Amino acid sequence: MSTMISLKEVCKSFGGIVVADHISIDIQRGEILGLIGPNGAGKTSLFNLISGVYPMDSGSISVAGQSLDGLPLHHRARLGVARTWQNMRLFATMSVLENMLVAPRNYPGEHLSQIIFHPRRVAQANLALRERAMTILGRMKLEAIAHASVNDITFGQQKLVGLARALMNDGDCLLLDEPMAGVEGQAYDTMKAIVRQEAEAGRAVCVVEHNVSFIKDLCNSAVFMASGKILERGSVETLLSSKTLSQLYFGA
Ligand SMILES: Nc1ncnc2c1ncn2[C@@H]1O[C@H](COP(=O)(O)OP(=O)(O)OP(=O)(O)O)[C@@H](O)[C@H]1O
Ligand SMILES: [Mg+2]
Repeated sequence: MSTMISLKEVCKSFGGIVVADHISIDIQRGEILGLIGPNGAGKTSLFNLISGVYPMDSGSISVAGQSLDGLPLHHRARLGVARTWQNMRLFATMSVLENMLVAPRNYPGEHLSQIIFHPRRVAQANLALRERAMTILGRMKLEAIAHASVNDITFGQQKLVGLARALMNDGDCLLLDEPMAGVEGQAYDTMKAIVRQEAEAGRAVCVVEHNVSFIKDLCNSAVFMASGKILERGSVETLLSSKTLSQLYFGA
């Protein structure tokens, strides 16, 4: 195994609120690391720090040995940092397919010079992206709704589309913020299968999730956070039997 995502002594505060207090975490290729903790622990903030939504106050973050420090969000996405959002952030009036086409990792059509001087290359890239999007939707058994408006699909399908959009970035890091919240039935099983496959394909995956059975099923190790601090880390079994965790998480 080799380290894909590495956080060293990452700190971030908003006024008096400390969301990351000297956080150090390594995530290996092929690993699914669970990130658990009560509401307000700083889990989403950590994803925002890795993906470049928030700048750090201090510390360092690297991906495959390359420092992300100071890089903007789109540059980090290009380096392979893909994520989903706790509140999904899908474009509700656009189709499923259109939502996916806004998130590729490398797209020549974003450069005006390519459109003018290499229109065929751009057209080929467009075609390849559509094919890639349809393949991902196929893996999720969602091809039939590719042209449906996001407004018209179920909540579980919307959560899967959030993951599908993140997978349009075929990089090596995948950050999933509560992928299972509100998801049940077939969508739940599909979500679990796809996350597992992505790790097996060599991505480093980090999952924030309150659903303990999802964490138990998928993760071999986990980190428990509260108030911006890592309180415990280790195997999922060890963490779930920890007194600190049950007191802070479940209040008992
Ligand atoms: N941009 C911001 N400005 C000010 N405070 C913020 C900002 N982002 C997050 N916070 C605060 O930081 C704390 C951690 O928030 P965060 O969203 O990271 O928690 P979380 O662990 O993801 O919680 P949840 O399980 O509810 O999603 C909260 O108190 C939140 O209000
Ligand atoms: Mg959150």
